[in-house]
Amino acid sequence: MLEIPQMALERFRHARRVAVLTGAGISAESGVPTFRDAQTGLWARYSPEDLATPQAFSRNPRMVWEWYQWRRQLVLEAAPNSGHLAIAAMERRIPGFRVLTQNVDGLHQRAGSTRVVELHGNLFVDRCFREGITLDRVIEATDPPPRCPFCGGPVRPGVVWFGEALSPRVVQEADAVCRSVDVLVIAGTSGLVHPAAGLPSRAKAHGAFVIEINPEPTPLSDLADATVREMAGSALVTLLDALS
Ligand code: OAD
Repeated sequence: MLEIPQMALERFRHARRVAVLTGAGISAESGVPTFRDAQTGLWARYSPEDLATPQAFSRNPRMVWEWYQWRRQLVLEAAPNSGHLAIAAMERRIPGFRVLTQNVDGLHQRAGSTRVVELHGNLFVDRCFREGITLDRVIEATDPPPRCPFCGGPVRPGVVWFGEALSPRVVQEADAVCRSVDVLVIAGTSGLVHPAAGLPSRAKAHGAFVIEINPEPTPLSDLADATVREMAGSALVTLLDALS
C-alpha cells in the first residue's frame, strides 16, 4: 500500500495553484533511461563531455548527432506512463496547473499536458549550430548532421548542453510559476543540475508546500515538506486520486 503523508494529500487537494517539476525519473517507467542511476543511467555508460557539450559537437558532429538520433528513436518507441498521464489529468482538474520539466523527451505532451515549460529544450526540435535559429524538422541527411537550409552550417539538437545557458524566457517563466504556487510536486529528479535544482527552494521561499517523489533521497529531500519514497507512476496516481 502506497503511503503519502496525510498532510501532503490535504495540501495538494486544497491547493489553488499547483506545479510539478519533473526529471528523468518520471520517464524511467516508460523505459527511457535516466542520467545518473548507477547501472542504467546514460552518464554511467556515456561521457557527457563527448556527447553533450558544444565542444563535443564541434569536434565530432556526426557522433553527437547519431547519439541523439538513437535517443530520439528510444523515445519514439516509448509511450507515456501512468505518471505522465496522472499529471495530464491534474492539468484538466486544477486551473493554472503547470509542468516544469527538465526532460527533453516530449512524453508529457504526448500524455496530454499542454502547459509544459521545457527547461532543457526538446529532442525533436532542431537548431542551427552556427546561428542558433530554430528550424523546422530537418530532413534526415545521408551524411549527418543535416545542414541548415539558410546558412549551410551543421544542425544540432535543440537541447541545452553542459556549459550552455537556459533560455532566459524559460527561466523567467519557471521562476514566476514557482513564486506563485501553493504546492510544488518534484518527481523523478536527482536535484543536481542548476538552475532547475534551485526552483524548489524558490517555491518554498514564497510559501509553497513542497512534495518530493523519488525512491531515493536527493539534495532536495531536506527542503521538502513531504517525501514520498515511491516510483513516480503510482505516487502520482495516488495524488490524482486525492482530488476525487
Ligand atoms: P537524473 O538521472 O540525474 O536523476 C533521476 C532521478 O530519478 C534519480 O534521483 C532517481 O532516483 C529518480 N528515479 C528513478 N526512477 C524513478 C521512478 N520510477 N520514479 C521516480 N523517481 C525515479 O535525472 P535529472 O534529475 O532529470 O540535463 O537530471 C537533470 C539533468 O541532468 C537532465 O535534464 C540532463 C542531465 O544532464 C541536460 O541534458 C541539460
